[in-house]
Amino acid sequence: MFSKEVYMTRRRVLLNKMAATAPEGKRGIALFVGNVEAAAQYKDNAYKFRQDSSWLYYFGLDEPRMAAVIDLDTGEETLYADDVDIDDIIWMGPQPSVASKAAEAGIYKSASYDSLTVAVTKALATGRNIHYLPPTRYYNTMRLASLTGVAVENVGKVAPIGEDGGRHASEELVKAVISMRLVKEPCEIEQLDDAGALGQEMHTVARNSIRLGIVEQEIVGEMEGVVLRKGWGVSFPTILTQRGETLHNHLHDKIVEPGKLMVIDAGAENNMHYASDFTRTYPTSGKFTSKQRDIYQIVADCNELAFSLTKPGIAYRDVHIATARLMLERLKDLDLVRGDVDAMVAEGIAGLFQPHGLGHNMGLDVHDMEDLGENLVGYDPDQKRARQLGLGSLRMARRLVPGNVITDEPGIYFIPALIAKWKSEGTGKDFVNYSKLESYHDFGGIRIEDDVLVTPDGARRTGPNRLPVQPDDIEDAMSS
Ligand code: GLY
Ligand code: MN
Ligand code: MN
Repeated sequence: MFSKEVYMTRRRVLLNKMAATAPEGKRGIALFVGNVEAAAQYKDNAYKFRQDSSWLYYFGLDEPRMAAVIDLDTGEETLYADDVDIDDIIWMGPQPSVASKAAEAGIYKSASYDSLTVAVTKALATGRNIHYLPPTRYYNTMRLASLTGVAVENVGKVAPIGEDGGRHASEELVKAVISMRLVKEPCEIEQLDDAGALGQEMHTVARNSIRLGIVEQEIVGEMEGVVLRKGWGVSFPTILTQRGETLHNHLHDKIVEPGKLMVIDAGAENNMHYASDFTRTYPTSGKFTSKQRDIYQIVADCNELAFSLTKPGIAYRDVHIATARLMLERLKDLDLVRGDVDAMVAEGIAGLFQPHGLGHNMGLDVHDMEDLGENLVGYDPDQKRARQLGLGSLRMARRLVPGNVITDEPGIYFIPALIAKWKSEGTGKDFVNYSKLESYHDFGGIRIEDDVLVTPDGARRTGPNRLPVQPDDIEDAMSS
C-alpha cells in the first residue's frame, strides 16, 4: 500500500468533487464495494484474488469482502469488514484486526461486513442519494441490487443521480473518479515504471526464447514466469501468436515455423497492481523478409510519429488520425492503396489495415477504468465517438494533460475475411488495390506498442529499458 495520507487525500478530493454536484444535505452517500473471492470449481478453490481497481485507488486494502461508505454530507467514513474468528485463524493464521487495517487506509470507523445492509437501508429510508460505481463482478452486481433495491439489470447502468434520485450507478461519482484516476500521481508513475520494467523483462525473455520447432506455449511459459517471480501476474491474457492478424489471439498451440511474424502483446501487473502493456513483432527466423520489413517499418514509423506528437493539449484522436495518414501514405508507396491520401483518411480506409484504435489509458487496469464506461473515460464531453472501423475503436481520444498514461500501439494486419468483405461490398473500391492485396493473404499482422506518460512539456515512455523496435535492432537482438 501507499501511505495512508495518499488514500486520505484522494478521498478528500473526491468528497470535494462530489460536494460540487449537489447542495449540502442533499448529497447522500458514496458506497464502495471491494471484490470478494470468486469460486473456480468450488468455494475453497477460488480464482487468484484480484481487488477492484477503484477500491484499490481510494482504500488500498488488498483483501476480499470489504466495503466502505463515505457520507458525502458529513465526510464520515466507515469501513465494513469482518474480524477473523478461530475457524479462520486455523486455516489462515492470525490476521490484523479490521480496525488496524482501516487505520492503514486512514479510516477510523469500522463495522461488520453485513452491517453495510443496515447503513444502506437507513440511507434509503431517509431518502438519501446512493452513489455507487458500476460493478464488474457478478457478486457485486447482485450485492448492490440487494442492498439498494435496484433491479439487477439496472445496477450497472450509469446515469446522473441528480435527475431521478438514482435507480442505477452514479454518473456523478463515475465522472469524479475518472477525473482523478486519469491523471497519475508521482507515486503511481513510479509503480507504472516498475510494471514497465517487469514487462520489458518479460518481453526480453520471450524474444530470447523464440526457436523454430517449439510450441508457442513454451515461450509464453518462459515469459509469464518472469512476472510470476517478481510481480502479481500478467496484466491481461497474453497474446503470442504467428496469426497476429487476429487481434486478440489467445491460442498458443502452434509450432514456431520459419518465415512467420510473431506478435507478442503482453504486460505485467506488479504487486501494487499497476500495469504495463507492450507489443513487439518478431520474424520467427530472426531476419525479416523484404516484404515483412516494408510493412514493419511503416508500423515502427507510425509508433514513432505518435510518440513525437504526444504532448499536453493535443487530442489523442488527432494523433490517431495523423498515424492513419502516415500509414496510408506509406501503403500508397507500396501500391496497396491508391489516390488522394486525405480522401482516404476521410473515408476511413486505414481501418482495413488497422481496425483498432491507436491506444488506451493505462494505470491500475491495462485498459484503465474501462469498467466505468469507455466513452466517459476516453472522450472529452465535446468529442463524439466515430463510427468508422479503426477510429471507432479508439478508446482514448481526449486532449492530453500531464499525468495521462496511454499506449501507443499502431498495427497493420492483413485480415483475409475483412479484405474479402470490403471487396465484395465495394468498400474502398476507389482506393484499395485489392489485386495486390491478394499476395498478402498469409502475411499475418504487425503491432508495436509502448506505454507513454504525458509530461508537462511532452512525453516519455514508461519502463526503464525500451525494447528494440527498429528492424535492424530487432534482428541484432535476435541473433545475439
Ligand atoms: N492487450 C491489448 C491491448 O494492447 O490493448
Ligand atoms: Mn497490448
Ligand atoms: Mn494496449
